Amino acid sequence: MIVTLITGGSDGIGAELARQLAAKQRGDAALVLAGRSQQKLDAVAAQCQAQGAKTLCVAMDVAQEPQCRSLVDQAMQQFGRIDNLINNAGVSAQALFEEVKAEDLHWYETLMKVNLWGSVWCTHAALPHLKATRGRIVAVGSLAGLFGVPGRTAYSATKFAMTGFFEALRIELRGAGVSVTTAYPGVVATSIRHRGFNARGEPAGSSGLKEDDAMPVEECARLILEGMEKREREVVMVAKARLGRFMKLIAPGWVEKQALAALKDEVKPH
Ligand SMILES: NC(=O)c1ccc[n+]([C@@H]2O[C@H](COP(=O)([O-])OP(=O)(O)OC[C@H]3O[C@@H](n4cnc5c(N)ncnc54)[C@H](OP(=O)(O)O)[C@@H]3O)[C@@H](O)[C@H]2O)c1
Repeated sequence: MIVTLITGGSDGIGAELARQLAAKQRGDAALVLAGRSQQKLDAVAAQCQAQGAKTLCVAMDVAQEPQCRSLVDQAMQQFGRIDNLINNAGVSAQALFEEVKAEDLHWYETLMKVNLWGSVWCTHAALPHLKATRGRIVAVGSLAGLFGVPGRTAYSATKFAMTGFFEALRIELRGAGVSVTTAYPGVVATSIRHRGFNARGEPAGSSGLKEDDAMPVEECARLILEGMEKREREVVMVAKARLGRFMKLIAPGWVEKQALAALKDEVKPH
């Protein structure tokens, strides 16, 4: 039995990770799916069970530390071990910093709680169990955690924080046999940007990014699982991003132009 805990397993990339693990591992798969929507979790679990996987759905909020600890406890009670922890739950946002009113700035903290602290709390709770299985940790970061993206000061801050946290942790865990893989998706075809916050901290309802070349969610999930399987340090999914990392050292102005070009005209800074 291979036990994989996926936060944000109710939709998008996390749900697809679950479906692909179920299809691959069949009866060996034990999937712990966490997210706020019980209904959506149950629907994903049913798809996984149809492939022979065992499932446990936990309706919870990663922005609450006790709920992260309880999630890990419930996984241990049900399956007795954790082999993989995929920190995937996340929220997006699209707003120019100067357009966010002082009374609304609190959602920057909410975003940090979900994207960074949810990952920190789940990882801290699961670590002893992952050490026991010499398991794998995956952090689903973002290209916004490698490059500052205009209109995404909040989101970039959370994802840069994830980049640093998991880079440091990877080195700490070298001797323990627990690998840490950080995935950096670009634009992936999910509803994350529609659900993400606008300047007032409400669901944006539309995407501020050009979506024409969005990566299919199936491809993104496949690349993340490949990286986890091979215990890769990083999964940088698009060639332009791999080039961008080098260009940032020698021509940062070019990289900034690329980041600006990713935005739709109507959301660009004036
Ligand atoms: N899609 C992209 O283009 C893209 C690009 C780069 C990085 N990423 C990253 O990939 C990850 C998954 O994104 P996605 O595109 O699959 O987004 P999505 O379709 O919106 O799914 C997000 C998942 O996170 C869960 N979630 C959100 N807030 C939560 C909370 N407070 N507590 C527990 N679960 C929560 C959601 O479940 P509930 O709503 O049921 O809580 C859902 O299952 C995120 O970390 C995101 O930043 C995505």
